[in-house]
Formats: sequence, structure tokens, C-alpha cells
Amino acid sequence: MELARVPVHNGLMTPDRTQSVPRRILLGVTGGIAAYKAAELVRCLREQGAEVQVVMTEAAQQFVTALTFQALSGRPVRTDLWDSSAEAAMGHIELARWAQLVLVAPASADFLARLAGGRADDLLATLVLATAAPVWVAPAMNRLMWANAATVANIATLTTRGIRVLGPASGEQACGEIGFGRMLEAQELADAVFATELEGPLRGMHVVISAGPTREPLDPVRFISNRSSGKMGYALAEAARDAGARVTLVSGPVALATPSGVARIDVETAAQMYQAVHATVGAADIYIGAAAVADYAPAACATQKIKKHGDIMDLSLHKAPDILASVAALSPRPFTVGFAAETCEIEKHAREKLIRKKLDLIAANEVGVERAFDRDENALLVLWSGGQRELALKSKSDLAREFVLLLAERYMLSRAQRVVEPLAS
Ligand code: C5P
Repeated sequence: MELARVPVHNGLMTPDRTQSVPRRILLGVTGGIAAYKAAELVRCLREQGAEVQVVMTEAAQQFVTALTFQALSGRPVRTDLWDSSAEAAMGHIELARWAQLVLVAPASADFLARLAGGRADDLLATLVLATAAPVWVAPAMNRLMWANAATVANIATLTTRGIRVLGPASGEQACGEIGFGRMLEAQELADAVFATELEGPLRGMHVVISAGPTREPLDPVRFISNRSSGKMGYALAEAARDAGARVTLVSGPVALATPSGVARIDVETAAQMYQAVHATVGAADIYIGAAAVADYAPAACATQKIKKHGDIMDLSLHKAPDILASVAALSPRPFTVGFAAETCEIEKHAREKLIRKKLDLIAANEVGVERAFDRDENALLVLWSGGQRELALKSKSDLAREFVLLLAERYMLSRAQRVVEPLAS
């Protein structure tokens, strides 16, 4: 089959290099003249495709306004643990979970002391205690404050707790003195962020995901399609990327932005999706067929708009290629995962598909006008040979993260079995 020419979009300039770098950065700004450099830092981080949420301490707002950071980061700045409207939008625990890296720049002597003391007396200090993400600090202060035994002891405490200290550099200080205490330059800090590899259960793997609906043209203005929004497939792409994978998304027509760091190939028809998947899946470790692919397509596409005639019109449809089954039939093949949208007897139909299409894993969900399609929430029943697990109703992005953890677990087990089986035979 001749390969269709399909456009490729990259969320980042260099997707291979930056697949598992931190992408959601919580930037803490504390009180010091170097706060102005943090404004430049936001720009450097965003330039590389990162999302930046700025959290300022009260003292930081004496140096730079929250409005500056809001304009540069494109997000409202968080300053207060007790701001009920901000908390309603994203509570501080959610914010702590959202972050893939917490970077405090500049970190004042006072903030380092509060951190070393384990305090939770403002929003930023609380977030540092509540996050599972790596915490980095870029100190900035007068050279004598930096050299003071109290600061030295605090830095030692923070380092032993796994907090990474970047800088400070030596040079001329705002107070006119010369010595150690200058915050590293914005670009140096941004370079350090993007030189970091996140740990993740899919680290180093290539995952190909198909998402969204397909459109099967009847004539130049009409097509047959379905209600799929692509939200689940896109959430899976983000979750796989965050788990460390290099992700290629083969997407039907959807109204969703390309997740940063993900390579996207746009297609319309099932035949184009088949071609694009097979062009990329050869070297992939995992294929996830999350697209709602047409089962049947018009036998022919009329070259001119079909005219109205008579009361009944018959359409002749031909079977579309089954992409998922064709990937599962490859040898060698990637770990092959299907999605099953069912309107009844979910488990029975999904297990039948798991066996018939020779899949490693299938995730089934109930669909209907009020369920799953174009919704922000979903629930899944995940089945494999000899087991199953229910993933309860939650946002598609949380569900995708949970699903990717399960996928990584099943993938590792299947690869371990491949090694053991030849030894046993
Ligand atoms: O058999 P059914 O279409 O319900 O199976 C759904 C699964 O098969 C999904 O993972 C979907 O992406 C995939 N599929 C496919 N090619 C088709 C039809 C479905 O890859 N033509």
C-alpha cells in the first residue's frame, strides 16, 4: 500500500531529546532583588515548551509584581494559601501533584531556613512539603548571609534531604559587594531543567497512539464519522510522555492542541490511519489503538456532490482495514493495546475482542449519548489474558495516568515472560 503524505507536527523543536524532561514547572519566587531574573527564567522555560506556574511569597511581591509573572507565564500567579477562589480552581495539593519539578529561584536565606525547618507557613513552603516532585533551589543573597553558619547548616540539611542546590555564583552583588551569593543566570537555570531526565515507568520507550475519529468521505462535502473527541487518546499521549516515553500520536480530525513534546501525524480516513500507524509502529515498543476507527467506509467517494433523488438512498460500504488487528499480527510486534467502546455487555464483548484480535491488553468502556464520547470523565475495565482491573470514574487525564501505570506493569511482565519461556522450554 502506498504511504499517504501526512503532515507531522512536533510539539517541540527537538522531541526526541526532550521526551522525558520536566514539562510542568512550579516556579517559586521569594523575596530578593534577583526576583527580576525569575521573570526572564519564565520566558526561557516557556520558550522550550514548558508550562510554568509561578508561586510568589509575600516578600517577593515587594520586588516584582504578580502581574509581571502572570503576563509572562500566561497563568494567574498563586500567592496565598487562603485564597479560596484560587484554591477552588486548583487546590494546593493538586498544584503540588501537578508539578513535575519545583524550582525556587531566587531562594532567599529566610526561605531556605523555613524549608530546613519543615515549615508550612505560606503557600510556597506548603507546596514544597506536599510535592512528590524533585525540589531545586537557586539561592540568591548577600555573600555574608550565604557564608553564615546558619545558612551553611540549612543548605547541608536540604542537600541531605535530596533538595538540589543550583549555585549561587560569585560576582558583583546588588549591595555593591563581591563574592558568592549571585543567583545563576536564567538561561543557566533553564538549561539545567532541560538537561534533567525524569524517571518514569516508560522511560526510553517509543509509544505509538492512534486517537480521535476517522472521516470516510461520501462526496466532496459529506463524510461518515462518529462522536469521538480524541480526549482519551490525547490524555494517554500526555500520560505516556510524562511516564518517560517518546510518543507518536496518529490523530483523526479533532479540536485538541498537540501535547508538547509529542510528535503528531494528522490523518482523516481509516486507510490513511492504517498507513500512518504502519509507517511508525515498526520500531515501537507499545501501540495503543485508542482511535474510533470506522468499521466500514463508502465503497467509492463521488467526485461531485451527490444530488437529492427519491425517498430512499442506499449506500454501499466496504470493510475498513482493522488497524489494531493488523498491528497485533506483525512479527515482531509491539505490545498491542486496544480500546473497546461498548453499549452493552462490556466485559463479554471486550474479552472476545482481546482474543479475536490477539491483543495484549484491552480497555473497555461503556459509550452512549451520555457517556464517554466527548466527555471529560471516563471509567475503564482493563482486561488481559488471565486478569482484569477496574479503573473507576475520574477525569480522563487522571484515568490516563492510572492506565499508563497498569500498562507499564503488564508490559514489564509480558517481556519478563518472553525471557523465561524460552529458558523453560
Ligand atoms: O472491533 P472494534 O472496532 O470495537 O474494536 C475497537 C478497537 O479496535 C479500538 O482499539 C480501535 O482503535 C481498533 N480499531 C482499529 N481499526 C478498525 C476498527 C477498530 O484499529 N478498523
